[in-house]
Amino acid sequence: MEEKQARLQRLKREKDAVILAHYYVPEDVQEAADYVGDSFYLSQVAQRVEAKTIVLCGVRFMGESAKILNPQKTVLLPDAAADCPMAHMADPARVRQVKAQYPDAAVVCYVNSTAELKMLADVCVTSSNALAVCRALPNRRIFFIPDQHLAHFIAAKLPEKEFLFNDGCCVVHDAIRAGDVQETMRRHPGAKVLVHPECRAEVTALADYVGSTAGILTFAQQDDANAYIVCTERGIFYELRRRCPEKTFFLVEGCSQTCTDMKKVTLDKVIAALEANAPQVTLPEAVLQAAKMPLEQMLALSR
Ligand code: 13P
Ligand code: SF4
Repeated sequence: MEEKQARLQRLKREKDAVILAHYYVPEDVQEAADYVGDSFYLSQVAQRVEAKTIVLCGVRFMGESAKILNPQKTVLLPDAAADCPMAHMADPARVRQVKAQYPDAAVVCYVNSTAELKMLADVCVTSSNALAVCRALPNRRIFFIPDQHLAHFIAAKLPEKEFLFNDGCCVVHDAIRAGDVQETMRRHPGAKVLVHPECRAEVTALADYVGSTAGILTFAQQDDANAYIVCTERGIFYELRRRCPEKTFFLVEGCSQTCTDMKKVTLDKVIAALEANAPQVTLPEAVLQAAKMPLEQMLALSR
């Protein structure tokens, strides 16, 4: 292990590379990364790093966002097959049809989406800025793609807006059911419930706190309870335990809470990607151009 870390450091220097990782990738990859964060933080970092190469340890849409924001940089995705199923859960033809039917609607696209979908959007959002960005939009009508659960969570907080919904969801968060959370609450009375907004409304209704992965981490760190039931992907436990070693964190009974795509990103693949300078994220020039505006708009509106 020691040897792998040393090899990685040497490769990083040789290739002028920086490693960005999401909280859901395996622990040793998070440990090896220069920056670890939620989707919003990773896109902010991707925009400001100076290194020639970005190794994006996460799923494809994260690598694509880094490339769209930095077309001149080399962006490596250690496993090209690590893809978020939800990113494909909106139909571009339907988005075009809704845009034609409601020309006054803003198309708000969760970053967990293909570059092709982002091209059709007015603005992108992540779970940590979706509420602020939707609130700041001048449009009353919002077509939110692809995640229905995040859309409903935000819509409930903005009664002045009219939301049009799409039926996509995260397969990992959608599988966390209220009955299982309630059973876990019975087993651990006093534990607070922390929920990602990609979860069903029946689960967010049970929460003491709802927020992005970064939000959940900050809440756990600042809150005075000592036990929590965590309703998001299990990779976050590494950072939760690192930041709050004295606290106890529980998974939901009977739920896998495992994103198989995030787990494809192993340390060996990170090293192999740096050695081979591949797989690289590449997108057609027209896509790079068209998908940039909604991402930059998100970064600007969140400042
Ligand atoms: P955040 O880290 O932005 O909360 O996103 C969660 C997620 O599902 C990323 O794939
Ligand atoms: Fe996609 Fe869900 Fe995995 Fe995140 S956790 S990458 S939203 S499938």
